[in-house]
Amino acid sequence: MTERVKKLWGEELEWIENQELREQVAATWELALQKSKLDAMDLFNIPFTLLAGTDMQVSFMSHKRAVVHIARESGFKIIDFFGDDLPVNMDVLIAGAILADVGKLLEYEKDADGKSYQGNYGKYLRHPFSGVSLAEQCNVPAEVCHIIATHAGEGDMVKRTTEAYIVHHADFMTFLPFKNGLKTSK
Ligand SMILES: [Fe+2]
Repeated sequence: MTERVKKLWGEELEWIENQELREQVAATWELALQKSKLDAMDLFNIPFTLLAGTDMQVSFMSHKRAVVHIARESGFKIIDFFGDDLPVNMDVLIAGAILADVGKLLEYEKDADGKSYQGNYGKYLRHPFSGVSLAEQCNVPAEVCHIIATHAGEGDMVKRTTEAYIVHHADFMTFLPFKNGLKTSK
């Protein structure tokens, strides 16, 4: 694992028990950083979405880490309550959550002022598609690529696995309130 990947995901990657999968996930992030117009430190500054207005203060990394942590806690609770009635593969869940938005490193570019925007590549191929492409180049297995492919709106067109549903909802429950939430006066 490279130093810059460790800076981004050191804590969460350790949660993946299967060493081969952990290395594939780390390699996918490293490949994305190599190809990206952004660098690792930008991810602590740029907003996590371009779809929730220009006032968004929550950074890419704050949101991505929140999604991974929420998905993992949700997986544990589902196992506690449902056991064999609704099995959850925790390694697949955590790997998919860490990789869900890796394709944004190809979707986003930044201007001279450091502001991020969707580049031409990203207009053609949003991050669920570019994310799968990056992950497959690093031999990430299909059940994890499925989570990347289906985590966003595009995934509403296909049947999701349990792990993919968890990541999708962890992502959207921490996105939609910013974008569409009811705003009341204080
Ligand atoms: Fe996403």
